[in-house]
Amino acid sequence: MENRRILITGGAGFIGSHVVRLFVNKYPAYNIYNLDVLTYAGNLENLRDIEEAENYKFLKADINDAVKIDSLFEEYKFDSVIHLAAESHVDRSITDPLAFVKTNVIGTLNLMNAARKFWKDNFNDKLFYHISTDEVYGSLGKAGLFTENTSYDPNSPYSASKASSDHFVRAYGETYSLPYIISNCSNNYGPNQFPEKLIPLFIHNIVNNKPLPVYGDGRYTRDWLFVKNHAEAIDLAFHKGQHKETYNIGGFNEWQNIDLIHLLCQIMDRKLNRKEGESARLITYVKDRPGHDKRYAIDASKINKELGWKPSVTFEEGLEKTIDWYLENKTWLDNVTSGNYKDYYKKQYSR
Ligand code: NAD
Ligand code: DAU
Repeated sequence: MENRRILITGGAGFIGSHVVRLFVNKYPAYNIYNLDVLTYAGNLENLRDIEEAENYKFLKADINDAVKIDSLFEEYKFDSVIHLAAESHVDRSITDPLAFVKTNVIGTLNLMNAARKFWKDNFNDKLFYHISTDEVYGSLGKAGLFTENTSYDPNSPYSASKASSDHFVRAYGETYSLPYIISNCSNNYGPNQFPEKLIPLFIHNIVNNKPLPVYGDGRYTRDWLFVKNHAEAIDLAFHKGQHKETYNIGGFNEWQNIDLIHLLCQIMDRKLNRKEGESARLITYVKDRPGHDKRYAIDASKINKELGWKPSVTFEEGLEKTIDWYLENKTWLDNVTSGNYKDYYKKQYSR
């Protein structure tokens, strides 16, 4: 279809802003609608370079407001949805689980209900693409990888809410024939990530000579993917993915936290002209995250074989680009770390 009208939710957030930019620039014939309520994690600064594009429109709305969502479907006649809006931080889900149920579960249902109503159960050329996470699969032991057939076993309120929304998307597919795709991705990193997540938080603290709070023994493993490679995978799955299928997306790039943190410190020493080892001296072991998943690792061979996707950016390259972006965008970082961030930081790290 040449002239799609795509609703992208959560487009002012980290991954969403990279997806919006890619679609706006790559598909001038599409109309891209970015729906976002602008929580602490949403930031229109992330999209300054494309906000004047003719095929782009920002819609400030809350996915928890069903009436508003229905009216936007009526007004803009979306033919597909790429759904990224969510509460996304595990630590915040531990202090306020209900907010995660509201946005991640009920918000997702509101969108699917609006899609069904507006599309009148005539689903030609329609798609509801739900962006999810590898955390729904729970935690791995030393060996093995998450495949699309791994059973769900979520351990945090965040991952339980994402697992629940995945189940509802599948259920709407089975019960109402809503055409859907789900993708479950590993840890993203890159420009524009809010500094509550490991990599940007540690970059910010290193710059400011503040302690680097490592949870537990630091031997937890994550599989890191550069955010632009995730956006490319979403583009491929959206256009070429099989409906009613799930795709796992990952970086083939496992790191124990403490090893990643040492690499980050080394690069930061070089960039900031510090003596070797100076940034690593900020490492401080702190109380562990409750229910902390030991290891995540994705088997991304299905999307590779079926759609030809693989990550193009190496971790070393991606980390350099990410650090450079944060060092060059000090105002962005200063703006998002003023005000409420300070309260959040104090509560989270003085437990
Ligand atoms: P983020 O927290 O950076 O951005 C979330 C965006 O959603 C923000 O712009 C926020 O304002 C918006 N939003 C939140 N609640 C809303 C509501 N009620 N109505 C409208 N908008 C709302 O998140 P992210 O890291 O970019 O993650 C995006 C999606 O990708 C999420 O669904 C997340 O579960 C998933 N995901 C993230 C990662 C990761 O490593 N960050 C990995 C896999 C999957
Ligand atoms: O796996 C995909 C998920 O990755 C996404 O679904 C989530 O939205 C995203 O937040 C991320 O979840 P994690 O919990 O893995 O990411 P986070 O950056 O919070 O933590 C990464 C690892 O670093 C984890 O083992 C906890 C640890 N950590 C994190 C913080 C914020 C610390 O040791 N200290 C910290 O201060």
